[in-house]
Amino acid sequence: MSSWVDFWNSAHSIYVNDAHKSAHARRLLEDITEWISDEDFSVLDFGCGEALYAEDLATKCSNLSLVDSSKNIRNMLISRTFGNESIVIKDVAECYKLKDESFDLIIVNSVFQYLNLDDTKNVLKMLNKKLKEHGKLVIADVIPPNLSMISDTVSLLKFAWSNGFLVISLLGLVKTYFSDYRHLRREVGLSVYSVAEFTDLLIQNGFKARLMAKNFGHNQSRNCFCATKT
Ligand SMILES: C[S@@+](CC[C@H](N)C(=O)[O-])C[C@H]1O[C@@H](n2cnc3c(N)ncnc32)[C@H](O)[C@@H]1O
Repeated sequence: MSSWVDFWNSAHSIYVNDAHKSAHARRLLEDITEWISDEDFSVLDFGCGEALYAEDLATKCSNLSLVDSSKNIRNMLISRTFGNESIVIKDVAECYKLKDESFDLIIVNSVFQYLNLDDTKNVLKMLNKKLKEHGKLVIADVIPPNLSMISDTVSLLKFAWSNGFLVISLLGLVKTYFSDYRHLRREVGLSVYSVAEFTDLLIQNGFKARLMAKNFGHNQSRNCFCATKT
């Protein structure tokens, strides 16, 4: 396996069991909902993953577009949300073709670490076009340089402890250690950004940016930015 896109399209075991997936989804539903100030909002979730919160989130806004590079994830989302007229599933190429200025809120959680700098710039430019004039782009879980794997691990284990999946989580860490994740992390690497670097990147791509006090999810050592069009 040679790319993060392939990894996320594979049967990986980053989420160790259903309890982990549910706790992750509950937390993200709360985090994203805080940004929906009007039930008429049109929302885009870029790099959405399984988005187990999608059906609940769709009841809090007027429509929800889910975009992911993984064909397997999209197929799963399509069959899971079949018949729900508030939710549409798109691949990345289709996302580029969506009508400009059509979203009040765009969420990108835990995605840019898997893209190189050029791809990140292209996606930011595209998302800038898709955002309405007064819309908000919320980018969460941006990894700062020098964040140790120990810090990530401790945060995950605390989350696992409070949600009842600690033991399986410890086994999951051992599995991850011997998995494609570790191989890719060593060979391809993750993209990391300081607050100043990511703020500059947003500014270069047509946004004003603010660092938020609270990140999405359990890992508060990573950063969340709110960007609006200049
Ligand atoms: C860590 S998961 C995060 C999923 C979801 N946002 C969440 O927080 O649960 C990263 C997601 O980004 C997607 N992804 C990776 N590279 C991508 C790209 N170039 N364009 C769009 N999605 C991508 C993966 O398929 C995966 O679903």
